[in-house]
Amino acid sequence: MEPLQLAPTGPRKKRTRLTDTPTASTSEDIKFRDLVLFILEKKMGTSRRAFLMELARRKGFRVENELSDSVTHIVAENNSGSDVLEWLQVQKIKASSQLELLDVSWLIECMGAGKPVEMTGKHQLVVKGDYSASPNPSPQKTPPPAVKKISQYACQRRTTLNNNNHIFTDAFEILAENCEFRENEGSYVTFMRAASVLKSLPFTIISMKDTEGIPCLGDKIKCIIEEIIEDGESSEVKAVLNDERYKSFKLFTSVFGVGLKTSEKWFRMGFRTLSKIRTDNTLKFTQMQKAGFLYYEDLVSCVTRAEADAVNVLVKEAVRAFLPDAFVTMTGGFRRGKKVGHDVDFLITSPGSTEEEEQQVLHKVTKLWEKEGLLLYCDLIESTFEKFKLPSRKVDALDHFQKCFLILKLNHQRVDSCKSNQLQGKTWKAIRVDLVMCPYECRAYALLGWTGSRQFERDLRRYATHERKMMLDNHALYDKTKRIFLEADSEEEIFAHLGLEYIEPWERNA
Ligand code: CTP
Ligand code: MN
Ligand code: MN
Repeated sequence: MEPLQLAPTGPRKKRTRLTDTPTASTSEDIKFRDLVLFILEKKMGTSRRAFLMELARRKGFRVENELSDSVTHIVAENNSGSDVLEWLQVQKIKASSQLELLDVSWLIECMGAGKPVEMTGKHQLVVKGDYSASPNPSPQKTPPPAVKKISQYACQRRTTLNNNNHIFTDAFEILAENCEFRENEGSYVTFMRAASVLKSLPFTIISMKDTEGIPCLGDKIKCIIEEIIEDGESSEVKAVLNDERYKSFKLFTSVFGVGLKTSEKWFRMGFRTLSKIRTDNTLKFTQMQKAGFLYYEDLVSCVTRAEADAVNVLVKEAVRAFLPDAFVTMTGGFRRGKKVGHDVDFLITSPGSTEEEEQQVLHKVTKLWEKEGLLLYCDLIESTFEKFKLPSRKVDALDHFQKCFLILKLNHQRVDSCKSNQLQGKTWKAIRVDLVMCPYECRAYALLGWTGSRQFERDLRRYATHERKMMLDNHALYDKTKRIFLEADSEEEIFAHLGLEYIEPWERNA
């Protein structure tokens, strides 16, 4: 084999030896045992590849001559992620999903540092195009190996609470909220999808190149990202944060029971502060809003994990006093591993009870708390659930289960490690609690629906509709092609019905 290309760097006298098939390092030479590298020859050339392999081995890296199952990192030069992917498919190599595809710049930095350096977005090769959005999905067609292609659907991404792109997602969430306040649904969705996809990235975006191949980032979104990269802030976000309407709506909707309609009214009437609203004699408040003002300070200070655990004990005790076989599951943000929340959500179901017993539980539980002086506010909504009704087509549809929206008095002594507030003399805190009661047959669907996040749920439904011709809501999954309801005893089974990889609750923070 004649070298056509010389290694651009590296000692000249070693030239011929370097172009020989490089010898694998002996195990004593390997310093970094967690990584197994393979360097792609395509577009790099034989001699440069040989040079880099030798160099990496001398620095203590394990470099394989051939691509095998043990390889963890593929290094390529002048190749896009799609190029590498194509090559891998031709090789018919079964690679694990953990395989990293990296640009040679990463290896060169490692050589400089004499050890593996952190892989960031600029090193990682991204694959363009969105496989999962293909118009004709079939369950047999599993995604190509190796590459972490990013789906346009949050339900095909793993989004933990470890957000590497706060600076961007905070900006997009403010812009989305502003659209929500202005009832601009289209832009709201655009900003929420952008924030959501950025939350799922395993790296921080540091240059526009990092955004290549990522779905849900249109021109408008990219402009904002670019501005934040360059100036550290977005002028549009700054303008929103100073906007009278945004500031007022943000403040008004922070009161429990105040939505867009009431905010709009108060804003038009010229109100700008809560104290002016609270003390105005001409305004009429709902029971919910009265409670919202009464417990305002407690409710805006978020619920901690310790407080949620204490509420969990309280709810379980009360429910099981009436239904000993009941399953009581904490859902919502806390099930997704959040450390704080705006409320605590619970799903209640019982395998052995009659419809009548089931219907009575929330009434009995709230009456008990009322007697104990723990019930500060209660709005109980009866079920409108009909067994054979098709799932709703709307992505944001409310469900039909019996439920109650509560404010409970949580005594500090029930909370482990609680120091706050006790000094001020108040011995309790008002906590928002949601209880949902569901028939035992739909518990898996109800659990999936009430675990959230909202964006994750929206994308699950959108995916079901557009990719699977199915209808999903908090009660059921309906296959429109087969015209049957698909039953499920667990969330895993629902994901399987949808042909989706299972996503754990803590990976649903989309
Ligand atoms: N949900 C629903 N129907 C409602 C209210 C909520 O299906 N009427 C679902 C939503 O999918 C949401 C979950 O229940 O994701 C929990 O709602 P919520 O408490 O509002 O949000 P969390 O994700 O728990 O966030 P937070 O920590 O702020 O409470
Ligand atoms: Mn919640
Ligand atoms: Mn809730």
